This record gives sequence, C-alpha cells and structure tokens, in this order.
Amino acid sequence: MYKIIDGKKVAAEIKLEIAAEVAKLKAAGKKIPHLAAILVGNNGSSETYVSNKVKDCEEVGFKSTLIRFNSDIAESVLLKKIDELNNDTDIDGFIVQLPLPKHISENKVIEAIDPKKDADGFHPVNIGKMVIGLSGYLPATPYGIIELIKRYSIETSGKNCVVIGRSNIVGRPVSILLSQKGFDATVTVVHSRTKNITDIVNKADIIIAAIGSPSFITEKMVKEGAVVFDVGATRIESKETKSGYKLVGDVDFEKVAPKCSYITPVPGGIGPMTRVSLLRNTLVAAKKV
Ligand code: GUN
Repeated sequence: MYKIIDGKKVAAEIKLEIAAEVAKLKAAGKKIPHLAAILVGNNGSSETYVSNKVKDCEEVGFKSTLIRFNSDIAESVLLKKIDELNNDTDIDGFIVQLPLPKHISENKVIEAIDPKKDADGFHPVNIGKMVIGLSGYLPATPYGIIELIKRYSIETSGKNCVVIGRSNIVGRPVSILLSQKGFDATVTVVHSRTKNITDIVNKADIIIAAIGSPSFITEKMVKEGAVVFDVGATRIESKETKSGYKLVGDVDFEKVAPKCSYITPVPGGIGPMTRVSLLRNTLVAAKKV
C-alpha cells in the first residue's frame, strides 16, 4: 500500500515553528519579518498564489505588503518599484509573481532584485550559490521538495531520480540539489525534446513531475515502488467546487498511486510546501538585518 506524502500537514508544522520564531523576535523587541509581493495583471492562478502568500504571512505573524500593477505597466515602472523595495529598510524580502506580461523581461526583473531580499531565490547570485553548494536563498518549490524528502526520510543516495521539466524555478534547480553531496542521487532531466521519455521514467526510483501537463505521468511510465513528487498544479474548470475550478497534477494519481511507495497528492502536496518555503526564506532575510 502506498503512503501519502502530506505536504499540507508538514507545511502546517513548519508554520508553527516559524510562528514560534516570530513570537521570540517580538518578545526580544526585534523587527517582525516583512514580505512584499508584486502582482502584475490579473492572471487567475497568480491572483490565487499571491493572496495565499499574503494569508500565510498573517498566519505566522509576518507583515506583508501586496503591490499591484495593471498588465500594461511599463517595464521601467516595475524596475523603479523594485529599486524602491531594495532600498526600503522595512521590507526584508519580496517577490515578483511570475509569469509577467510578454512586454516585460522576466530576466531583467529578476536581476533587478537585491539578492539579499530575493525571497524566491530566483536571482542569478542565489542560483549560483545553490549550484556550488553555498548557502543562499533556495527557490521555494525545490526547497519544499527537499524538506519533504528529509522529513519522510526518503532514501536518495545512489537512487535514480528522473526530473520531468527543465524550468528555472523547479526542474533545473531541483535536479542540481538532488545530485549534490548529501542527497547523492543520480539525476536525469527529461524535457519536451527528450526521446523515449517512458523508457527513462520507467527506470526511476524517484520521479519529480514538473511540466504542468495534467495526467502526463501514466501508470505505464512508473515502476513498482517508485516515490513520486507531483509539482503540477494546472487550474481546470470544475462543477464540483465552489470556486468553479480545481487544481490537477501532472500525475494520473488514481492509476499511478497503487504502484508507488510514496506519492504527493494535488492539492495538498507540493503547493503548501512551496508557500511555506517562501516564509522560511523571508524569516532568514529578516534575521540578517
Ligand atoms: N509562479 C509560479 N511559481 C512561482 C513562484 O514560486 N514564485 C513566483 N514569484 N512566481 C511563481
């Protein structure tokens, strides 16, 4: 019988740990961590992510600030706001929710963020530190995945780990982390141009699915006893929910789960861990001030 990796439960535990840290900071008369989020436009998923991030801050006792811009904002105005936040001593960390409208360069925006305030861990300085094993801010989703690996004592040393997807925010960084000393996995990254994906995924002891394609991972791709992390969170319309939509993962859960030793559900798996990782980065940033 497979076991569920309960990201929601672990994230709730970590939030309590963070709230206790905030209480200690308050009691010692120190600064309360303050996270700011910039949201450009009104993409439905981004709205949900950002409002959840703000809610999380309230829950653990952080201050939060949400800054909104219309989707037609000039790139220069956004860069100016980033400069302001870089220089605002009350803000410990901030994020710019992605994706951005096409006329704005995501790379320029990410590079404009002060690496010391880069709560998302997307700045090249933080990515570079991660690659060579120095401490810095880790991207939130990979950070959440490795925390689950640790808390569930998932064996990674010498294991075949296949990462599906090569995005800068999930696939590539998680592949780097898991190949490093301490995790010691043998990592393969597959992507849209890979030939024979099924054959490669079939050999995986650990599968990390991060492509954003509902039910891409089918039963025949997964070997008996594999550990599966489903990063997918595609929003689809649904008559079953009040909101009118539901989140679906990259894994055909019903069919795949019975073959696994461990599997993360969607929702309630990686999503809550991503959110809590952002809080952890912000807490570290605040303590450094
Ligand atoms: N879009 C999807 N995931 C993320 C994330 O972790 N951070 C930001 N800023 N944008 C995202």
